[in-house]
Amino acid sequence: MPKPKVFVTRIIREKGLDLVKEFCEAEIWPEELPPDRATLLEKVRGVEGILCLLTDRIDAEVLDAAGLQLKVVSNHAVGFDNIAIGEATARGIPVGNTPGILTDATADFAFALLLAAARRLTEAERYLRAGRWVTWGPSTLLGMDLAGKTLGLIGFGRIGQAVAKRAIGFDLRVLYYDPSALPAWNATPVETLDELLRQSDFVSIHTPLTERTRRMVNAEFLAKMKPTAVLVNTARGGVLDQEALYEALKAQRIFAAALDVTDPEPLPLDSPLLTLENCLITPHIASASAYTRDMMAYLAAQNLLAGLKGERLPYCVNPEVYNRA
Ligand code: GLV
Repeated sequence: MPKPKVFVTRIIREKGLDLVKEFCEAEIWPEELPPDRATLLEKVRGVEGILCLLTDRIDAEVLDAAGLQLKVVSNHAVGFDNIAIGEATARGIPVGNTPGILTDATADFAFALLLAAARRLTEAERYLRAGRWVTWGPSTLLGMDLAGKTLGLIGFGRIGQAVAKRAIGFDLRVLYYDPSALPAWNATPVETLDELLRQSDFVSIHTPLTERTRRMVNAEFLAKMKPTAVLVNTARGGVLDQEALYEALKAQRIFAAALDVTDPEPLPLDSPLLTLENCLITPHIASASAYTRDMMAYLAAQNLLAGLKGERLPYCVNPEVYNRA
C-alpha cells in the first residue's frame, strides 16, 4: 500500500519527525524560515495531511489548494488562531493541536517573566554590561515585591491554573477572570475584567486569540491597571495593542510589561517598545524546553497519523467534524 503524502512545514523534533517519516511519504520543508505563501500553496497540493506550525496561516485558500483528498491538519502548537477552523470544519477536516504537554513549560516561563519584570532583571543586566555598576546603591534598580500582592489571571484554563499553582508558593493571592472556568481551591473568580484590573498587582494573560480577545489590552484596559502593576503576556501578541502599551509604559502608567508574544512576530527591531527599559520581550519561547518540544512534535505526529488513518485525533479542536452524517 502506498504511504499517504503529507507536507510538514518545518523540521520538527525527531521524536515526531521519525514517526511521520516512517508512516508517510513526507515532504519536509528544510528551511529555518517558514515556506512563503506561494510555496505553501504549491506544496500542499495533493497531500492527505498537513503538519504545520503557528507561523503558517492555514485558511480556505490553503485547504482548497490541497484538494478534496486532504484528511487532516495537525498544528504543532496548543493555540490554533493560525488556522481557519470553521473552514476546516465545513470541509470535514479535523484539526489537531498539542494541549497539556506544554502547560508546565509555559507556566514556568510566564512566572519567569513576571519575576524578571518585577525585579528588573534584564534591565539590571544591561546596566551591568554597560559599566554602570559603580557601587552598591540603596535605591538602585528597585523593583516590586510579590509576597502579599495579588496576581490577576485573564483566562483560567490549563496554563492559567498552572501559573496559579506557582503563585501560591510566592505568597501571592490569585484572582482570575474566566467566565467558563470551574472553581479552584487556590484562586478566586471575579465577575468582571474591571474588577480584576482594579485589584491586581500583576496581570498575566492566558486567553486564546479570538475575535473577542483581539486587542483586548488597549488604552482603556491599561488605564484601569494600578500604576505599580506588571503585565505579562505569554498568550498571543494580537491580544494586545502595542501602541497603547508603549504609551502606558513610557508615561509609567504601569510599572512594567513582559511579553513573550508580539504582533507581528518577529517584532521589528525599530519597534518603539524596544526603546523602553520597563518592557522585557522574548522571542515566543515559553514552550521552548527540549522535553516539551519533543512531546509537542510527538503529539502533532500522533494527530497527523490518526487523521490519515481516519481515526479520531487524540487532540482535536473541532470534534464537531465527527458528528456530521
Ligand atoms: C505556542 O504559542 C503554542 O500555542 O503552542
